[in-house]
Amino acid sequence: VPSDLNRAAVERLSAIPRTPLVALPTPLDAAPRLGAALGLDLFIKRDDVTGLGLGGNKLRKLEFILAEALAAGADTLMTTGGAQSNHARLTAAVAARAGLSCELFLKGEPTNARIGNLLLDTLFGAEIHFCGVVGYDEIDARMAARSEELGKAGRKAVAIPLGGATGLGTLGYVAAFREIMDQVTAERGDGPMTVVVAGGTGSTAAGLILGAALWAPMTRFLVVSASWKSDILTAEIRRCAAAGAALLGLPEPSLKGVQVTDAFVGPGYAQPSDSGIAAILTTARTEGVVLDTTYTGKAMSGLVAIAAAGSVETCGPVVFLHTGGAPEIFTRDGAAYGS
Ligand SMILES: Cc1ncc(COP(=O)(O)O)c(C=O)c1O
Repeated sequence: VPSDLNRAAVERLSAIPRTPLVALPTPLDAAPRLGAALGLDLFIKRDDVTGLGLGGNKLRKLEFILAEALAAGADTLMTTGGAQSNHARLTAAVAARAGLSCELFLKGEPTNARIGNLLLDTLFGAEIHFCGVVGYDEIDARMAARSEELGKAGRKAVAIPLGGATGLGTLGYVAAFREIMDQVTAERGDGPMTVVVAGGTGSTAAGLILGAALWAPMTRFLVVSASWKSDILTAEIRRCAAAGAALLGLPEPSLKGVQVTDAFVGPGYAQPSDSGIAAILTTARTEGVVLDTTYTGKAMSGLVAIAAAGSVETCGPVVFLHTGGAPEIFTRDGAAYGS
């Protein structure tokens, strides 16, 4: 039975302005062949097919972030990420759709290659600034300086932090948790479930965890890091969850039942891992579903390894959240996948 606090939080969530960008609900697909291979009752939640700009998890965050930017009178969206950032690509698509300009401040040396997400950034008309191999603090300072410059020219830019990992962005996955829970309940009835998700900035996981705290506290989570060490990712999940909770008038959610692992990052962020490639092939060949090498392939490799070791602390059905990212696979030749 939801407490008054939870009821008030749900009301607050539905009152927060949100610009619709996603055709909801996204499908929850049964994955019987992959599930049988892993010994799991497995579903894939298809947030790779959120639609606009070739889709992905960032659109649910951008629904809230865009509404706030429009209310502030923005004419330009800015954001940052790696050269193959899905978040940058979707920010560019969202800006195009909303009739705003977009400037992307990407980490890495300048390149003329417009492949994968960079190709899409260009299609959506974003201006790309390569910032060199520098820290995100430095890139944030560059965005702030550029915002100020535009401001002096009578423009209004909104700089979206890395991965849309703000309290407001995190709310996108609070609402998504409810959608997943309703879909799983329709398939399997009431009962606990396990959610598996890739962790970049941790805000997607944080939103889901906050949603579970509201509606289904027995839910277990496996968060597979694509980049950071577990302790840093856990701290970021906590920070995003606390920021989201504050907007809803809720206490910071407990991370009991949340397993965060950095064992599947492989050679490093955005560098393919052997087990990630194997998981991409298995998923493609059992379910016809395309994962990416940076996030979802590694997340699936975590689920495969943990399921094989019998150490996945699952309860009930397992939902693998497909967060998108497929444009990145077109940056390399099929030989990278052993074909
Ligand atoms: C395809 C994909 N999956 C997962 C993530 C991780 O999401 P988050 O940054 O919210 O942890 C990202 C972005 O970082 C992404 O682009």
